[in-house]
Amino acid sequence: MAGALLVQLQDSTMPPVNSIRSAWRSGAQLSPPIETERLTLRTLRKSDLEQLLAIQSRPDVARYLYWEPRKREAVQQWLAPAMATPALEADNQCLTLAAVERESDRLAGTLSLFLRSLEHQQGEIGFIFHPEFQGRGLAAEGARVVLRLGFEVVQLHRIFGHCDGRNLPSARLMERLGMRQEAKLIQNEWVKGEWTDDWIYAILDEEWRQAWRTRP
Ligand SMILES: CC(C)(COP(=O)(O)OP(=O)(O)OC[C@H]1O[C@@H](n2cnc3c(N)ncnc32)[C@H](O)[C@@H]1OP(=O)(O)O)[C@@H](O)C(=O)NCCC(=O)NCCS
Repeated sequence: MAGALLVQLQDSTMPPVNSIRSAWRSGAQLSPPIETERLTLRTLRKSDLEQLLAIQSRPDVARYLYWEPRKREAVQQWLAPAMATPALEADNQCLTLAAVERESDRLAGTLSLFLRSLEHQQGEIGFIFHPEFQGRGLAAEGARVVLRLGFEVVQLHRIFGHCDGRNLPSARLMERLGMRQEAKLIQNEWVKGEWTDDWIYAILDEEWRQAWRTRP
């Protein structure tokens, strides 16, 4: 894509971030799309509604999420604020990126970065992919960029993620991203009519940098 920012995640060296940083800082817009090997990560648009509905309405996608499969109106309500690109300068602001598979030009999923605490420089990552785009490493490919944005642009100290203890694809993904399992909270949440376990994963900025230095 012309003018798009190519993120070389395979590089053994720390990838340059100046262009991402300046794009981010100019009007708090992540203006150029970010390209990975197979994905274009960009902000969400109104025209994504149908493809988002195809993802968020699926019972298998929502199985371990806090919400039930969404109908069109609920997706519309979710999409309106998600199209914004906040500067992540206040607690609980969230940046959501569309992950578009370039080959098919389809919305493979969404990736989110929440600023959970400005004071403590804590962020949270989240990911939701259409089953047709799962099992191919695409979520991991996009999530690495989100971690990089969190550490190198937003300057977070720690990024965590959590999942239902039965959500093994999510747990495996966080492990693949180099996140440590910090806790297995047993039946600490009442979700969809049952007590559920919550597994917490996290990675620190120095662990992220170390992983980049030692990457073969
Ligand atoms: C969580 C979720 C995003 C994980 O997606 P995913 O596609 O399994 O994750 P990855 O991108 O890391 O892909 C990894 C899988 O692709 C396989 N794979 C195939 N080709 C690959 C490649 N070129 N590179 C890397 N992995 C590849 C891996 O072997 C792995 O499969 P495995 O887990 O069976 O071993 C997905 O399950 C999802 O959207 N679930 C519904 C919503 C949800 O629960 N979100 C999480 C809330 S906590």
